[in-house]
Amino acid sequence: MILTGKRALVTGGAVRVGKAIVEALQAEGVEVVVHYRDSEAAAKALSPHAERADLESMAECAALIERAGPLDILINNASLFTKDRLADATPERALRELNVNLLAPMELMRQFAARAQTGAVINLLDRRVRANDAACLPYSISKKGLEELTKLAALDLAPGIRVNAVAPGPILPPPGSDGTGFAEMAGKVPLELFPSPADIAEAALFLLKADYCTGQVIYVDGGQHLLGNGV
Ligand SMILES: NC(=O)c1ccc[n+]([C@@H]2O[C@H](COP(=O)([O-])OP(=O)(O)OC[C@H]3O[C@@H](n4cnc5c(N)ncnc54)[C@H](OP(=O)(O)O)[C@@H]3O)[C@@H](O)[C@H]2O)c1
Repeated sequence: MILTGKRALVTGGAVRVGKAIVEALQAEGVEVVVHYRDSEAAAKALSPHAERADLESMAECAALIERAGPLDILINNASLFTKDRLADATPERALRELNVNLLAPMELMRQFAARAQTGAVINLLDRRVRANDAACLPYSISKKGLEELTKLAALDLAPGIRVNAVAPGPILPPPGSDGTGFAEMAGKVPLELFPSPADIAEAALFLLKADYCTGQVIYVDGGQHLLGNGV
């Protein structure tokens, strides 16, 4: 795909990794609709086209695609991360994470594909899809589900729409954390390098341009996924 002149929606695109993806797309000449929930000022500072939606609501997901207008690219970046073990994962709490991280990307893809004959989708996973991290159980299930959804949707939407994923390792401490102990928490990284948000954006750009790739996952994690649970 030639990116210049295309139009993209980036969910959670106002800050952090999403912002890096928005800026990388804009540098390629892509018109970007920035989705936000709370980060309104940051979203509006990045793009004249910013749209609010709470991705816990599937009705709001559908309305978001409608308001975004004709799209060539969908980046499912928004995410909810909680450190819930099984004991904490009440149906209410688990559903919030499953909605934002799995069902919202599914509904956004469904609505995107209902309107676009051609295009490309990138789903943001986590290197934890290759591990079993019970310390964030609903989050892990949602990202593992999103990996499977990436492959299923890639098959279902071919040949017109390609669906790929980027799986980051530890990049930034969770929102609200001051970063204390992040390196220790992140664990062992074989390459002894933390990827930056810009590194994630670069992988996303590669997959958007790679007309021969669908159903692929690129791990941008310094090799951490190779260790499985051994981090
Ligand atoms: N950071 C890391 O080290 C890391 C590691 C592995 C994987 N990842 C993955 O990479 C992606 C980006 O990471 P990140 O750390 O930049 O993400 P993040 O800061 O945790 O979340 C990105 C945005 O998601 C939006 N969001 C959360 N709940 C929402 C809801 N109910 N409705 C609508 N929007 C909602 C928020 O937008 P507003 O601010 O507008 O409310 C938030 O800024 C995520 O998919 C994450 O799982 C990140």
